[in-house]
Amino acid sequence: MHEIHDAEILKHKAAAGPSLGIIGGGQLARMTAMSALQLGCNVVVLESNPFSPAATLATHSLVGDWSTIDPLLDLAGQVDVITLENEFVDAGLLHSLELAGHTVWPNSRTLALIQDKFTQKQTLQAAGLPGPEMRATDDLAELSAAIAEFGLPVVLKARRNAYDGKGNATIRTEAEIESAWRQLGGHAGNPLYVEQFCPFVTELAVIVTRGRDGETAIYPVVETVQRNHICHLVRAPAMVASEIAGRAAETARRAIEAVGAVGSFGVEMFLTDSGEILVNELAPRVHNSGHYTIEACVCSQFENHVRAVLGLPLGSTRMIAPAAVMVNLLGATHAPAEITGLHEALAVPGAHVHLYGKAMSGVGRKMGHVTALGESLTEAEIAATTAAETITFANIL
Ligand SMILES: Nc1ncnc2c1ncn2[C@@H]1O[C@H](COP(=O)(O)OP(=O)(O)OP(=O)(O)O)[C@@H](O)[C@H]1O
Ligand SMILES: [Mg+2]
Repeated sequence: MHEIHDAEILKHKAAAGPSLGIIGGGQLARMTAMSALQLGCNVVVLESNPFSPAATLATHSLVGDWSTIDPLLDLAGQVDVITLENEFVDAGLLHSLELAGHTVWPNSRTLALIQDKFTQKQTLQAAGLPGPEMRATDDLAELSAAIAEFGLPVVLKARRNAYDGKGNATIRTEAEIESAWRQLGGHAGNPLYVEQFCPFVTELAVIVTRGRDGETAIYPVVETVQRNHICHLVRAPAMVASEIAGRAAETARRAIEAVGAVGSFGVEMFLTDSGEILVNELAPRVHNSGHYTIEACVCSQFENHVRAVLGLPLGSTRMIAPAAVMVNLLGATHAPAEITGLHEALAVPGAHVHLYGKAMSGVGRKMGHVTALGESLTEAEIAATTAAETITFANIL
């Protein structure tokens, strides 16, 4: 019998299971880490903020800038598999990790196809999956030419690094063209493109998990409601005809196959009044529209993500209740996050409150979410919104 005294092993490996490295430490990494820990993994998080939502939970956390190679190599040296929680990690850096022999899922090729939204949409079009008409706009003249072709309104979008609508500007009148261009940094060389405005009747989303062997697990089609371009509420399942739900699920499956996905991916879609399904965008990661799966499905998007990237069998995506509704908890002011209303929220029967542990609140910042299951969407929505409305993140002085 000998005891293990290897301090290095103990430092980085608390459990006997595989080590999963997560690039990024936000709430998506936090919920992924929870599932990985449940499966006996060691979780190592790389994030510049030592108190990020996932860093405070991980087996071990590295404080560093994941937009540079050295911290990424440091992470890679400590784990068996690397995954990510956002699409902003440079695909070239991920490729360098792969060339050095490290395993990254989703891989650099998938990220390269997705992280530039214009390239992503060209890839989807080439796979026969239409989205709103779009044009690259390298200068204001090209933007004006596209608007002359499409008519107004249009949505001008940053090609990279956009989230929660922060890289989007809707142009409704000629007078707004130049201000939108400046708002998104077009004048400073930030690459932009423009899309035709899609007058959707509803927005749909589907989480698909794809394993390393190509096996796919498709979650129910949900309806998403955005406020100010930020996801506000998710209804699962979407109240659409089964034929439409079937086409949305198939569209999502084809979209993630087109980019060679491995892991849980979110596919956002527009449903038009003629019943057409257009792909809005893909996320190469677990997605806000799939948070409901934690309570409402046999196996959550987070657990299935961990299973997929580790090469384990995928779990069932079946819902265990007739309906579920998720409501995001957004910050209202820039201030230290002092939570009020938790007692009242937890007094709502069936409300599951998730708080992300962020020290600072911000306007529109995702601070947590509430999910409620129900016999009907109406029942679930009343419970989820009643609980969500009681919670705030800053004392208004
Ligand atoms: N072409 C369009 N026509 C109509 N509405 C649009 C269009 N593009 C985007 N939107 C609206 O803006 C929302 C956010 O857009 P998009 O998904 O491109 O941004 P994002 O910054 O990646 O947001 P998120 O991180 O929330 O997914 C969409 O969910 C939709 O409500
Ligand atoms: Mg989106």
